[in-house]
Amino acid sequence: MEAWNGEERLHLGAEAEVISGTWFGRPAILKKRRLRAWRHPELDSTLTRKRMTNEVKLTIWLAGMGAPVPAIWDVDMDESVIIMEKIEGRPLIEVLRAGEYDEKLLFKVGKSIREFHRYAVNHGDLSTNNILVTEEGDAVLIDLGLASREYELEGFGIDLHVLYEIFRASHPDVENAMDLVLEGYLALDEELGKPQPAPGGQPPDAVDIIKRLEQIMKRVRYHGG
Ligand SMILES: Nc1ncnc2c1ncn2[C@@H]1O[C@H](COP(=O)(O)OP(=O)(O)OP(=O)(O)O)[C@@H](O)[C@H]1O
Ligand SMILES: [Mg+2]
Repeated sequence: MEAWNGEERLHLGAEAEVISGTWFGRPAILKKRRLRAWRHPELDSTLTRKRMTNEVKLTIWLAGMGAPVPAIWDVDMDESVIIMEKIEGRPLIEVLRAGEYDEKLLFKVGKSIREFHRYAVNHGDLSTNNILVTEEGDAVLIDLGLASREYELEGFGIDLHVLYEIFRASHPDVENAMDLVLEGYLALDEELGKPQPAPGGQPPDAVDIIKRLEQIMKRVRYHGG
């Protein structure tokens, strides 16, 4: 990683350490997956590799399609390191907590999620930490370690349900947050029509996914899961 110049640690989580700096002089992020002592070392390295390969493959593929993800610039599998474009902005969680959001932003969040789903990719970990809000007010999705290709309504419904639960638990004061996200989610299909077939199958329509989400919400209310 010769072209890398680290400046500041942004994040130290259970899974990853994230450092901001420059790569060939451009603002960049270095994400290093951490080994965890409590896991079996071999199992840990297999899981780490799997998640990292997943993150790299799907992020690069989505970026090529023009979806809202950071560009990946370099990868070192042996060191479990990814170097990517730095998205100038803040995680949605902070923007919501600071009360610095408007309806348009939540609408855009919905559109960004729908872009993933239109390309038959499930994000897999849609928390308000993994949605970055740029200075222009766009929503970029990061952290694709749990992302997967998906063709079933249920999978996409669950992706949205994760965000719904996080809004309820962490941002109950943000009114209509999920309604606005779903408006944006639907609007992209109204704009672009039916999604194109993706490698492996036909991604379902937004209307049908939202119907499924409503069923999942009911199921969880009655049975708690
Ligand atoms: N490309 C990027 N541009 C700007 N900030 C980023 C970028 N990638 C990550 N970050 C920042 O680092 C934080 C953690 O990154 P990420 O979500 O990828 O790690 P993680 O897998 O969630 O780590 P852990 O599970 O250990 O918490 C993000 O919430 C974001 O604030
Ligand atoms: Mg994250």
